[in-house]
Amino acid sequence: MNSDTTHSPQASLSAATLERFAREVAKYPPTGKQSAVMACLTIVQQDEGFVSEQREREIAAYLGMAPIAVHEVTTFYNMYNQRPVGKFKLNVCTNLPCQLRDGAVALKHLEKKLGIAMGETTPDGMFTLQQSECLGACADSPVMLVNDRTMCSFMSNEKLDQLIDGLKGAQ
Ligand code: FES
Repeated sequence: MNSDTTHSPQASLSAATLERFAREVAKYPPTGKQSAVMACLTIVQQDEGFVSEQREREIAAYLGMAPIAVHEVTTFYNMYNQRPVGKFKLNVCTNLPCQLRDGAVALKHLEKKLGIAMGETTPDGMFTLQQSECLGACADSPVMLVNDRTMCSFMSNEKLDQLIDGLKGAQ
């Protein structure tokens, strides 16, 4: 699972997904339907866990955009997964201000505790470890985001251990 970027062709988008797309597109004037691109990407990720190149092409066709324009959005934002990820996606900020305050230490500690390198997923599919751009909380470093939603601040090695053990225990 770790670095496999080849996936078999997926079935076409479901009627339910297309209906959700239509609801998003309806929020914009007819000439601005491309503005729904982030919402459509989010819907696909909610349904499938990641956004494949096939889905990017389908969204592009649906919105009348060039596939590369959709790909640029997917690759610009950390929150979009371009491949399957673990149940818990851990994004550790390693931008410069965080580097100066143990961001890299936190990342190394997680690599050691989980037994994987940055960018990989644990063999049991539980955790994916990634770097992140600035999360807007530099003063709270080390900081990380769990599953794109839960911000964790001042993540000492002890707090990282507690977090990982807690997530494992919640299964
Ligand atoms: S650089 Fe890490 S939160 Fe800003």
